[in-house]
Amino acid sequence: MTTLPTIAPERLPELLRAMPKAELHIHIEGSLEPELIFKLAARNGVQLAYPSVEALRQAYAFSDLQSFLDIYYAGASVLLQEQDFYDMAWAYFERAAADHVVHAELFFDPQTHTDRGVAMATVMAGLHRACLDARTQLGISSALILCFLRHLSEEAAFDTLAAALPFKDQFIGVGLDSSELGHPPEKFSRVFARCRSLGLHVVAHAGEEGPPAYIWTALDDLKVERIDHGVQSIQDPALMARLARERVPLTVCPLSNVKLCVYSDLGQHALKHLLDAGLAVTINSDDPAYFGGYMNENFVQTFAALPLDAHDAYRLARNSLEASFVDAATQAGWIARLDDCFASFR
Ligand code: HPA
Ligand code: ZN
Repeated sequence: MTTLPTIAPERLPELLRAMPKAELHIHIEGSLEPELIFKLAARNGVQLAYPSVEALRQAYAFSDLQSFLDIYYAGASVLLQEQDFYDMAWAYFERAAADHVVHAELFFDPQTHTDRGVAMATVMAGLHRACLDARTQLGISSALILCFLRHLSEEAAFDTLAAALPFKDQFIGVGLDSSELGHPPEKFSRVFARCRSLGLHVVAHAGEEGPPAYIWTALDDLKVERIDHGVQSIQDPALMARLARERVPLTVCPLSNVKLCVYSDLGQHALKHLLDAGLAVTINSDDPAYFGGYMNENFVQTFAALPLDAHDAYRLARNSLEASFVDAATQAGWIARLDDCFASFR
């Protein structure tokens, strides 16, 4: 869209909610709401450390990434059967559809499940079936990205890749998540090289809590196509210039960053500075069941806290569609829908 229509500021939240968008940073295990955790625990006979949904929700007060991960991995312990993985992903897709997400690339953490004795086939079957149903029943396009847990060894990542390869047609790429500090991207250089040689897309969490150096090595050693989070690039002007020049997408997660104390409040978030410096910033929910909101909540709250306008809304939505791993023709169709949406707000 060459010229954006003038949109009254009071209509901005409505526009943010209605515009078509892609979600590129969602850990599907982080979409597990407390109610579903309790339902699956009862179905599977799993004993939880919390007496009620309310008590569990009250434990969601985090001081940093690790304090969150401890509860997040405990929550995932209720996932045992294929139907559990399906139900989790289906619940996410219903919420994403309501937020006008047209395409979602879902992270999943197989090691969290296989290390508890759940078969890779069980994880893949449930998630893949939910993706197929999301397409036919909700009109949402989706894909799966397998994440390696970076607090575990590279050898464990190689084992996980081997276990996943029989299902290679059911995921499009690999990522790197879990505890960032002390586990730099280069710890996984060889397994990422192998993944690239297999034709998989590659992304990595870098610069969430970790230093800009981790973003440099994610780019240079892992050769990632997108950086997940990447907000610490704000500390390094040379890195910002490179990310802008190469248009490396950053999948930023504003509510997550506040919940995990990367920023004291949304008003302190670097998102606007990164966007204005020409970086391909996108907005995403990360672990929405834990961080207080899905896609539209992230958009509306971020726009309420920062000096962002309709032009920024357009840039963020368009960046998300263009940063997705889908073909250019499909992207062009979504961008046309985005343009129509903005034109309808004239
Ligand atoms: N950071 C790192 N690992 C994660 C996250 C996150 O925000 N969510 C789930 N695993
Ligand atoms: Zn994440």
